[in-house]
Amino acid sequence: MDLSYTRIVIAGHVDHGKSTLVGRLLSDSGQIFQERIEKVKKICESNGKQFEFAFLLDAFEEEQKEGITIDKTEIPWTYKGKEFLIIDTPGHKEFLKNMISGASTAEIALIMLDAKEGIREQFKRHAYIIGMLGIKNIIVVINKMDLVNYSQTHFEKLEREALNIFNELKIKASYIIPVSAFAGENLLKRSESLSWFKGPHLADSLLTINARESVVNDNLRFSLQDVYKFDENRIYAGKIESGSLAVGDEIKFLPSGSSSRIKSIESWNVKVAPTEALAGTSVGFTLTDPLFLERGEIGYKPTQSKPTVTHQMHASLFWMSNKQLEIGKNYKFKMLTQESECKIESIFKVFNPQNMGEGTSTDSLKLDPGEAAEVIIKLQKNIVCDAFSDFENTGRFVLLDDHRIVGGGVVLKANTINVFKESSHLSSQDRSMRFGHQGAVLWLTGLSGAGKSTIAKVLEKRLFEMNAHSIVLDGDNLRKGICKDLGFSPEDRKENIRRTAEVSKLISESGSVAIAALISPLKSDRQMARKLMGELRFIEIFVDCSLEECERRDTKGLYKKARKGEILGFTGVGSEYESPTKAEIIIDSSLLDPEASVDLIIQYMKKNNILGQNKI
Ligand code: ADX
Repeated sequence: MDLSYTRIVIAGHVDHGKSTLVGRLLSDSGQIFQERIEKVKKICESNGKQFEFAFLLDAFEEEQKEGITIDKTEIPWTYKGKEFLIIDTPGHKEFLKNMISGASTAEIALIMLDAKEGIREQFKRHAYIIGMLGIKNIIVVINKMDLVNYSQTHFEKLEREALNIFNELKIKASYIIPVSAFAGENLLKRSESLSWFKGPHLADSLLTINARESVVNDNLRFSLQDVYKFDENRIYAGKIESGSLAVGDEIKFLPSGSSSRIKSIESWNVKVAPTEALAGTSVGFTLTDPLFLERGEIGYKPTQSKPTVTHQMHASLFWMSNKQLEIGKNYKFKMLTQESECKIESIFKVFNPQNMGEGTSTDSLKLDPGEAAEVIIKLQKNIVCDAFSDFENTGRFVLLDDHRIVGGGVVLKANTINVFKESSHLSSQDRSMRFGHQGAVLWLTGLSGAGKSTIAKVLEKRLFEMNAHSIVLDGDNLRKGICKDLGFSPEDRKENIRRTAEVSKLISESGSVAIAALISPLKSDRQMARKLMGELRFIEIFVDCSLEECERRDTKGLYKKARKGEILGFTGVGSEYESPTKAEIIIDSSLLDPEASVDLIIQYMKKNNILGQNKI
């Protein structure tokens, strides 16, 4: 895609004057040579036909077919120095398919409306799809005003109807403009017949739209098409769907998760190899560490936003097949170079353009040809994608049945695993009656060496002796099991705390007492753990001990190592510990021994009815 052009797509029935409009725009702005007009006029005369601008367009396209530089469906047009590409899609079905599959992406959409005929189903359908595809700049062109005597009342009636439809679809029209393409009124100059119309004429309206702003996303998405092996080199070829790539950039691929750096960008027929490549271009590059990658991988920069890897998504789907969409049937899902078998798991919010009836939230079991709906798609394998609102190309897909495109849509939300909460037959009262105490989370925080683990173990033993169920979740132990993939970066610590909090929650829900002993150095992370508990009891216990004292104890010899620089980011030495300001219990472990500390905790638990008063 050449980004210097603003791409315009025209939606409308053939009879609504699409070709006439394009022919007029080209000829009235002097972009079709006079001799060609004469030639077409002569042909018309000899065939006994009246001259039509639409024929000009046909002739123009014929000519372009012979050239190889321009796609025959894309017509370049310049107006007051601004360059446009008019995407001319022949039939109605073709238009829908091209739009949905992304074969024609556009920044501006013109929706044609025949003033005489009024609003038909197709207008609604086109508006729906253009809205669904996220094209922000929509101009409704009310054509054939000559056939309704350039009537202002007639225009205003259609304008109101169109606006109502747009409102229902929650989309906005940038302009609604009356024209007569046939008579050349209000296209490139203001029209006397339409002097009552105060807005800009069509060409000027296009100039006011800053289309580029709405489409540029700087984050890299690279779709891998093929890997070529030349001698010892591997060249990774594909397309930059968004963002840019430069030599030296780190690039990570999904779903494989492997990463490397761009060593060189390969180019043929140029003297100096490029060092950068931009969105819309197809490129080949080599990597510093050759990776084993297959077609379909998506590349991104780890420093930028990451796409989602998922086997389920919530999408808007437009159904184009002649047959009904069947729930549970196998279809092929295609997004860029990625493919997977898929099934539609559920259909809701059915949109039928005929009655504009957006279905209620109740599920539907079928989708008729020409209908659209929100659906949950279940994929057989993982797909790398984004929400369409953030990234167009990694957010758009088509469905195929028997090699034919039968539907297309956009990702509303990647990864919507449908999970429902199963509620237990037992209540927390049932459990506390049986156990004689309530479930709770006791969260011990403090520096390494402050005494968290020691206090936790003495507490666990004491509760056991009181016939109360508890378990210690010790940071060091968890890091050997469910958290063994985590280190000590702020992100990893946060995840360590989140997982421990989730496990603590389950334990507390079962009616037991979870005693978590984690440094948990940051207030925000402890706050996150507290929030996660919801209604459950969360008691933060600050095991307070000065850094000097912890370092003097240095039970594991880790402070010494940290001081020697052998452990980076050790809490208290190379990274911060934020003392709690609102802990339920504060234990000064330099003053209280473990037994006395546990006394304090038991007292608190009794006072707050976690332990029955008569527990001893
Ligand atoms: S937390 O910060 O994520 O809450 P956690 O309590 O699980 O930490 O683990 C802390 C234990 O890991 C320490 O008691 C110590 O034995 C060990 N450890 C290893 N490296 C570090 C480090 N950089 N900072 C803190 N503790 C570390």
